[in-house]
Amino acid sequence: MTGGTGAKTAAAARPADPCTVVIFGASGDLTHRLLVPALYNLAVEGLLPKAFALIGVARSHSSSEAFAADLHNSLPKFATRDIDQSAVQQVLGCVAYVQGDPADGATYGKIGRELARIERERGTQGNRLFYLATPPAGFAPIGCHLGESGLARQENGAWRRVVVEKPFGTDLASARALNRKLLGILDEDQIFRIDHYLGKETVQNIMVLRFANGLFEPIWNRHHIEHIQITVAESLTVGRRGSFYDATGALRDMVPSHLFQILSLIAMEPPSRFAADAVRAGKAQVLDAIQLQSRDEALANSVRAQYDAGYVENRAVAAYRETPDVKPDSTTETYVALKLMIDNWRWAQVPFYLRTGKALRAKQTEVAIKFKQAPIAMFRNTPVDRLAENFLTIGIQPNECIGLEFNAKIPGPSITIGGVSMTFKYEDYFHAAPSTGYETLIYDCMIGDAILYPRADGIEAGWRAVQPFLDAWREAPADTLASYRAGSDGPKEADELLARDGRRWRPIA
Ligand code: BG6
Repeated sequence: MTGGTGAKTAAAARPADPCTVVIFGASGDLTHRLLVPALYNLAVEGLLPKAFALIGVARSHSSSEAFAADLHNSLPKFATRDIDQSAVQQVLGCVAYVQGDPADGATYGKIGRELARIERERGTQGNRLFYLATPPAGFAPIGCHLGESGLARQENGAWRRVVVEKPFGTDLASARALNRKLLGILDEDQIFRIDHYLGKETVQNIMVLRFANGLFEPIWNRHHIEHIQITVAESLTVGRRGSFYDATGALRDMVPSHLFQILSLIAMEPPSRFAADAVRAGKAQVLDAIQLQSRDEALANSVRAQYDAGYVENRAVAAYRETPDVKPDSTTETYVALKLMIDNWRWAQVPFYLRTGKALRAKQTEVAIKFKQAPIAMFRNTPVDRLAENFLTIGIQPNECIGLEFNAKIPGPSITIGGVSMTFKYEDYFHAAPSTGYETLIYDCMIGDAILYPRADGIEAGWRAVQPFLDAWREAPADTLASYRAGSDGPKEADELLARDGRRWRPIA
């Protein structure tokens, strides 16, 4: 099926301002796999400025020529679209490499000299986008050096912006400290805390679904919605990320960032304007309204678990504790399920059940909104409790779709009722060229639109909501860590969490 039913509202995008992108941690995976392919896609779409340059900063010994050659070689491997040499030239036509320790002030002198040369030769007008693709320990020191060296000072009409990768902190105290450090040097509107989930079309579409349609808002509240499930299931294992993951766990890795971004878009109040501050304030406000749980409540309303050996998608998977760089007696969770309540008028008494985990049956990110049941048994043959449940589902990945599940009459002489569903699939209507998911985020930063980037208060509200779980788990006996078979839907304890409330998770497809 193709074509829509109504008018399209499209604002033609313009190329971003001339600028230089400076990537710290340039020798890492992110640069090759995602950032450069995303810049390439922007060039293909005519959104990258003609005056553009790329500087890589990393510790390893290399040269501008070798770095450029490296990027030229890796781009065809990771590009999501066919290679067009003029677009390659636009992205990689001016590449420089600065070898240096980002913790050493002298590195910034070298970066400054390269920037001055490039800005003169390339006409990038002094606009600079610093991308912090380093391990998180680098964020504060790099921010401080950018401030002290003057490289990030906005002057003479030139903008200077800093993209900070995740994880932004490892708990509430460290996220606050990082915000304080960065805000001591940069203005809030120079800081872009990236969450790649906001680069996903279907995540962005949650806002359009809610606020460009009059249909949903009147029923988007506790009077009509019974509960909400947010699932981010991964079939991937921890793989080669053992040392990072074992110090992090599923809660820190996924919940305050990706799951809370989805939750806040689902649960926020309608913003007064589709503008960065109004949207970011609305999201921060709803995260701030998540009920803070006591230690006992946090234990009762959470399940943490680790995967045992099993089969995922017909591949044999070793137990988490056998992953390289993971402690053999590790108690780090690879799965978490939470029950959260939001203390505001819209959501009082509506539980939000969240779950995420590695090595599960399949990759599936889905929001499922369960509407209240019909109040009385009007149809003799089908009591209320045998009616199909009314779900609105938002499939985020890999199946990008919106579905509605409801009851219909099964054809025949008697009134017999069965559950049916209607599904809108993105691919039936829109043919988006494959992308990395970073294009919109990078472009938005280049044009100074922070609508998709959480603000300091939003980040801190997220950590505040998960802190009770971190605290409760730290002191909890080791036997409160459950286990699940790799390739399953998760631990039975997570099923019990919902069963207690007379509910069940939707299957992971
Ligand atoms: C990252 C996490 O932020 O998101 C990873 O650190 C996780 O552990 C990844 O696998 C999931 O992203 P996506 O886009 O594959 O759902």
